[in-house]
Amino acid sequence: ETDLEKGFEALRQGKFILVYDNDDREGEIDMIIASEFVTPKSIATMRNDAGGLICNCISSKFCDEINLPFMVDIMAAATEKYPNLAELAPNDIPYDERSSFSIWVNHRKSFTGVTDHDRAMTISEMAKMFKDGKFDEFGKTFRSPGHVCLLRGAVDTVKNRRGHTEIGLAMCEMAGVTPVCVVCEMMDGETGQATSFDDAKKYAEENDLVLLRGNDIIKKYLEEY
Ligand code: 5RP
Ligand code: CA
Ligand code: CA
Ligand code: ZN
Repeated sequence: ETDLEKGFEALRQGKFILVYDNDDREGEIDMIIASEFVTPKSIATMRNDAGGLICNCISSKFCDEINLPFMVDIMAAATEKYPNLAELAPNDIPYDERSSFSIWVNHRKSFTGVTDHDRAMTISEMAKMFKDGKFDEFGKTFRSPGHVCLLRGAVDTVKNRRGHTEIGLAMCEMAGVTPVCVVCEMMDGETGQATSFDDAKKYAEENDLVLLRGNDIIKKYLEEY
């Protein structure tokens, strides 16, 4: 069994995989899990062991079904009334051409929205909504702003962008799970910098997780999809 196959199996079993994007990009390792399996314990693990932003990535096709915009498009549309927003255009991201950020949401049954319980509910219920094709329930089920950042995957995932957003969604597609997944950057608790590959390797071994390189995932996807 290759590491990639172990990664597909882990996603199907609702376990975390660790993914390093690339030296020529962020150089970060994200913990990634299929959203349909997220529990309060998964959120606690990401808070304690990863520490980055907990974001919910959604495939381009699902985003189209609910007409979910990128944040940059919302801001561009609002510049007539709020001209300052035009000055904030993210045209200088040092590692990529575009950001995948969309809006932030909470499940309407959340209290504050930030607890492990609330974030797990927001994330897992959103995956279920998409899985069941209940696209017209988006606004009925969620409110915005909230405490879970939604990331909009590029069309055809890694063919058009090579972020953790697309790498995670490509893994879901290849593993055969609903293409909605959580990503959270692993941060070094001592230095405050991104966790190094060696430290992530150690963490993966201690916790029986697979650590993958984004390039291997991209290569596989481009060969077969
Ligand atoms: C949200 C981020 C992270 O880098 C996350 O990995 C998703 O972004 P990208 O697709 O750019 O890697 O910016 O915390
Ligand atoms: Ca990023
Ligand atoms: Ca609050
Ligand atoms: Zn990233």
